[in-house]
Amino acid sequence: MRQKGMAKSRAVYVCQNCGAASWRWQGRCDSCGEWNSLVEESGAAEITRRTARGRVFELEGLGGEGQAAPRIATGIDEFDRVTGGGFVPGSVLLLGGEPGIGKSTLLIQACAALARRGARVVYISGEEAVAQVRLRAARLNLADAPVELAAATQVEDILATCAMGKRAALIVIDSIQTMHTSMAESAPGTVTQVRASAQALLRYAKTTGATIVLVGHVTKDGQVAGPRVVEHMVDAVLSFEGDGAHHFRMLRASKNRFGATGEIGVFEMTGLGLAEVANPSALFLAGRDAGAPGAAVVASLEGQRPLLIEIQALVAPTSLGTPRRAVVGFEQNRLSMILAVLEAHGGLKLGMHDVYLNVAGGFRADEPAADLAAAAALVSSLTGAVLPPDMFFFGEIGLSGAVRPVIHPGMRLSEAGKLGFHHAVVPQSQQISDDARGAGVTIRPCADVGALVASIARMSNREKTVARGRSPAL
Ligand code: TYD
Ligand code: MG
Repeated sequence: MRQKGMAKSRAVYVCQNCGAASWRWQGRCDSCGEWNSLVEESGAAEITRRTARGRVFELEGLGGEGQAAPRIATGIDEFDRVTGGGFVPGSVLLLGGEPGIGKSTLLIQACAALARRGARVVYISGEEAVAQVRLRAARLNLADAPVELAAATQVEDILATCAMGKRAALIVIDSIQTMHTSMAESAPGTVTQVRASAQALLRYAKTTGATIVLVGHVTKDGQVAGPRVVEHMVDAVLSFEGDGAHHFRMLRASKNRFGATGEIGVFEMTGLGLAEVANPSALFLAGRDAGAPGAAVVASLEGQRPLLIEIQALVAPTSLGTPRRAVVGFEQNRLSMILAVLEAHGGLKLGMHDVYLNVAGGFRADEPAADLAAAAALVSSLTGAVLPPDMFFFGEIGLSGAVRPVIHPGMRLSEAGKLGFHHAVVPQSQQISDDARGAGVTIRPCADVGALVASIARMSNREKTVARGRSPAL
């Protein structure tokens, strides 16, 4: 016989990719479309039907008193830049990155730097044994830093331990996927566990004012594995990127409730851990062969940080029926568009040529401002004209062939000027204030791709005399 009102624990199937719950098992998640991602979790989505009377609270205006968030800087400038000037007490950050990229290394270095400044810092490793973490610290010459270390995975135990003694300024949880809490019944590693653990840690941060950094693994397509929900819960999402062939690593903020996103911090992985790279342009331009055709430098912008990057092109007659177009560090579609515009408005014939475009140093040039430099590199390779080594470009190319203005020309000009670049090829319609003009940089306005092609062709004829001269238009 059926009993009404009896509480029954019904199985719930939770998508391990997006966290959506479903009452029955399905091969494909309705919510995110992932296959085979549903896992049975008991008691995951119990909703109480009790109605409760709410308590009345006071509503306030926007213009009330507020305090600027105080900051705890680690002293590692490249790290502090990305967080917006240091950790905000009571905030929770998620640091994502592929395995082996250096998340644990970065965080143990940040922990040591902060602990040496007298703050209480707790590092909880859910993946490595204490001895392993110690070994790494010894290798990094950080063994003397007063970081409090433990290998643990039970959230309640961790919070009880942290609550003992002085208030912790920073707690690192490496990683959130290894944590489990008694608040949730499902197995460790499931979305429900990860979400409940993150919630408990979040509550602890808000009530005690400790900053908590959660390490998160990412899947092959670059998303923090399992719970996308954790990204929505935390105050800031940082990602640590780099590629296997190069030693440099980049830290970016894709979400930050207390600062700007788009800022990057650049590090180099050395035998002694991660070293800060204060001048990344020098790194990306290192080993440049300035005497060869097919290379152009773009003054690009990452967040508020100008970066000079070399774009290399190789245009060669094809031996295949269909010419090859290959890119590294550049968008394939943007290259196709630039090639089409160069053919339609620059008079170039590229249909029988293979085209390769490479961004030096393993960097990605995603900004439209890199269009003009990419076009210049392509024309230079095709014509064999060597661009002057101290020339740089910025400008977006439109389908009409026009070169369009980009944001922050002043920052680009001053960074290039500092690094010894004296000839700027910029969009003709770009407004440049007088103080941005200084710094010994000659401005060469360029109206469209036709003008670009003509001037590079002139350069190949008259060699360097034109390049050194002061022509008002490029
Ligand atoms: P790690 O911080 O363990 O990566 P994650 O936590 O993101 O998985 O870094 C592991 C890699 O970094 C490892 O392959 C070796 C390299 N490494 C160095 O090159 N130099 C060093 O000083 C350290 C500590 C690591
Ligand atoms: Mg690690």
